[in-house]
Amino acid sequence: MPKAHWIIGATHGIGRAVAEAALQRGETVYASGRDTLALATLTAAYPKLCHALALDITDQDAVILAASKLPSPLASVQVYAGTYTPTAVADAVWADTLKTIAVNLTGLLGVVHAVLPLLRAQAGQGQGSQLVLCGSVAGLVGLPKGQPYSATKAALLNFCQSLRAEELAHAARSHAALIDVRVINPGFVKTRLTAKNTFEMPFLLEPEAAAAAIWRGLNHTNRWMINFPLPMVLLMQALARMPAWLYFTLARRM
Ligand SMILES: NC(=O)c1ccc[n+]([C@@H]2O[C@H](COP(=O)([O-])OP(=O)(O)OC[C@H]3O[C@@H](n4cnc5c(N)ncnc54)[C@H](OP(=O)(O)O)[C@@H]3O)[C@@H](O)[C@H]2O)c1
Repeated sequence: MPKAHWIIGATHGIGRAVAEAALQRGETVYASGRDTLALATLTAAYPKLCHALALDITDQDAVILAASKLPSPLASVQVYAGTYTPTAVADAVWADTLKTIAVNLTGLLGVVHAVLPLLRAQAGQGQGSQLVLCGSVAGLVGLPKGQPYSATKAALLNFCQSLRAEELAHAARSHAALIDVRVINPGFVKTRLTAKNTFEMPFLLEPEAAAAAIWRGLNHTNRWMINFPLPMVLLMQALARMPAWLYFTLARRM
């Protein structure tokens, strides 16, 4: 039986490239997003393998309904739904701030609430899975002019870390298969999300290269945080670890 994945945010950008890579390997994809036209082109290209489950991730009833239509076992649930408004806090529009939190954080937590019982049930029958949530290198350190986007990604990282610990404990305690919680932290990827940026983005990747890094990380490593590209990750980690006086001296110029 081919592997089956539920990919939310499969209509555009990174999630679309992740979905297409799986479909090209002959795996089954349940593809979600709001853009029904984009879902139709994906299902038309892979009529036997791709199934559309249109939803808005901020509508928890829609998420629960879509989850009820999934097959079992699922190899992975992956969430790439995300939104971004490049602003400093002082200039932010409150509605944009609420939307960013609703999609990037509340929406992802809602998916976890909806699928955890399904994944635990299949784990109880010996079928492990991967639960993959998309963060960002922006969640590794607070940088100016990226809020509240960076804050949602930092919160997501914290959430995934504790969820992974819980699932490791649950699998050991109940002798069930593991729900392997992973977080994806990309650097800059050329999508409609980053098309809003007016600055030059260092180490910019195409979505297909991002998808290749993601599948490499998921299928061939045990790394719970899949961070890429390396130069961008090293830069962000250096900023996160430097003394506060040095960090603020640099960050105030950004
Ligand atoms: N591009 C980058 O440089 C970069 C870097 C780090 C992290 N990321 C993260 O990567 C993920 C994908 O972003 P991207 O760059 O690929 O952006 P994108 O091209 O704009 O794709 C975003 C995806 O999220 C879906 N989405 C947005 N709002 C949604 C909602 N309310 N309900 C359901 N789906 C929704 C979109 O589908 P519909 O429009 O069809 O709903 C689309 O499929 C995001 O989590 C983003 O934060 C991106």
